[in-house]
Amino acid sequence: MISVFYVIFLQEMFSFFSKKNKEAAITQLPFQTDIHSHILPGIDDGSPDIETSLKLVRGIYNLGITKTVATPHVIADMFRNTPETINSALQLLKAACKKEKIPIEITAAAEYMLDDYFIKLLRSDKPLLTIHKNIILTEQSYATPTSNLNEISFELVTAGYFPIMAHPERYPFYHNNYDAYSHLKDMGFLLQVNMLSLTGYYGKPVAKAARFIFDNDLADLVGTDMHHERHLQTLQHPGNLDIFSKYLGKRIYNDLSGF
Ligand SMILES: [Fe+2]
Repeated sequence: MISVFYVIFLQEMFSFFSKKNKEAAITQLPFQTDIHSHILPGIDDGSPDIETSLKLVRGIYNLGITKTVATPHVIADMFRNTPETINSALQLLKAACKKEKIPIEITAAAEYMLDDYFIKLLRSDKPLLTIHKNIILTEQSYATPTSNLNEISFELVTAGYFPIMAHPERYPFYHNNYDAYSHLKDMGFLLQVNMLSLTGYYGKPVAKAARFIFDNDLADLVGTDMHHERHLQTLQHPGNLDIFSKYLGKRIYNDLSGF
């Protein structure tokens, strides 16, 4: 009789530990489409060459990303990328992925700095590069808030665009004013949180702000903002995958079919 109870006890313990192991073994990102990355070779401060691009793409594919939208910077005084420079880098990467048999879908848009050059582009007759339909990815300088953000967002929205504000948690000028996140949304911006921010990669105030945005249900979208292999390694870390899973929960992020 004792031995039967003992066997049952062992079975219960085994099932408890195997459940725990299953819970701990998160190996994938909790979303399948990445809409912010710098994986195109040689056109901004992201991947410098096709070999690095392939490493980054293989890495995120192994993390469960099946579609990625590359978003090279467009910044007046640093990276004046155009549809032509972006598209030719995209074609290079797509061909290399095909050759290496990495079955990931890759498209490209841009990450627009909200500077005077951007206003010129917006007012020109050429359409901006969009992530999907009329959704565009924008960012601000980390040093100073964009002085005419209200006017720019009004122009963007009036022109029919849905602007995304990239990594709102990374702007130091919002760290003492979390109300700014709701104000950005009132202006028409979708908030896209950088996954790396949640891990503390950019420091404690950024992690705190990222967690505030999730805890208050203000995050519309997420992104890896992956530039190089250190970013990839941080995304792959099992402890960090647990953090992503905890903050994103069961909600499905980056499903663009809803837009
Ligand atoms: Fe970025």
